[in-house]
Amino acid sequence: MRKNFMKKVVAGMLTAVMAFSLTACGGGDASTNDTAKEEGSSDVITVGFSQVGAESDWRTANSESMKSTFTKDNGYELIFDDAQQKQENQISAIRNFIQQDVDYIVLAPVTETGWDAVLGEAKQAGIPVIIVDRMVDVKDDSLYTAWVGSNFELEGKKAAAYLDAYMKAKNMKDMKLVNIQGTIGASAQIGRTKGLDDAVAANGWNLLEQQTGEFTQAKGQEVMESMLKQYDNINVVYCENDNEAFGAIDAIKAAGYEVGADKDMMVFSFDSTKEGLKKVQSGEITLNTECNPLHGPRVEAIIKQLENKETPEKKAYVDEEMFAHDDTVKSVTVDGKEYPVTVVTDEVMGARKY
Ligand code: AHR
Repeated sequence: MRKNFMKKVVAGMLTAVMAFSLTACGGGDASTNDTAKEEGSSDVITVGFSQVGAESDWRTANSESMKSTFTKDNGYELIFDDAQQKQENQISAIRNFIQQDVDYIVLAPVTETGWDAVLGEAKQAGIPVIIVDRMVDVKDDSLYTAWVGSNFELEGKKAAAYLDAYMKAKNMKDMKLVNIQGTIGASAQIGRTKGLDDAVAANGWNLLEQQTGEFTQAKGQEVMESMLKQYDNINVVYCENDNEAFGAIDAIKAAGYEVGADKDMMVFSFDSTKEGLKKVQSGEITLNTECNPLHGPRVEAIIKQLENKETPEKKAYVDEEMFAHDDTVKSVTVDGKEYPVTVVTDEVMGARKY
């Protein structure tokens, strides 16, 4: 039984005893009983959520998904903490959650490493930890109860396989590629960069430079501006999320180049937010590999399993699609599995809610 639930039951029982004594003394009234009923039935589950920050449109959609799932009406009290992309803020938030004796800690970690000590403290306090979105790299995997998120390496491999197939279909021989990476050390960066690096090594592509754009539009723009000053004839820009791609596109246009597959530079992106898909439809982004942010209901399903004394899957990957401007490449095969590529139409746009 949940610790806080036990506390609430005890509080409810004490209130009921007090109400009974007052009634027996002739001093009771209906409102006292209502209070006792409310206390006894307010089986609220307290969730402390440490969010990375608000660096991207994807993150905003992710925060919204958590906030709209863990509502009072659904029986939760959500303590939401925005860490502003800093691990030290996430560590203090977790320590605060432990002090507040929450029922569950949910962590969307900024980077993979550096969690052993604080998750050890949560374990010591008997609070289950659910990891969401990016992964943690800990020595002892009993430090967290379950993880749900994206297969970031698969995302990178799918994007690289598309680039390879696209180059071959268009008979493009000369590649001058730059990579605007995500936050260094975040699973989303590690996996997407690895997918590209492996393809660069396997195909002998010309990768001019890799630099972090920290998953933000401002940094994506700044990095692209500096790359444009440094290199001539860049023709492929592999951005690791939509906001970096938006910034890079602004920089490319400001420098007087045209963006698009049959123009000066092709831009690749990840996330497939509504704004990201709009740019796929217009042709400014050639391929957008989806990363699904709607984790609120998934985390809630894990909590419900735990409440019912069931064992959730230790690691669960979400299914994700690929969206392209045209049907030059209809599908890609990665590790023996075929993944279809969807062309962005008005119907696809209409279905995208975030
Ligand atoms: O971890 C998911 C990544 O983080 C998303 O691709 C990005 O937009 C976000 O900031």
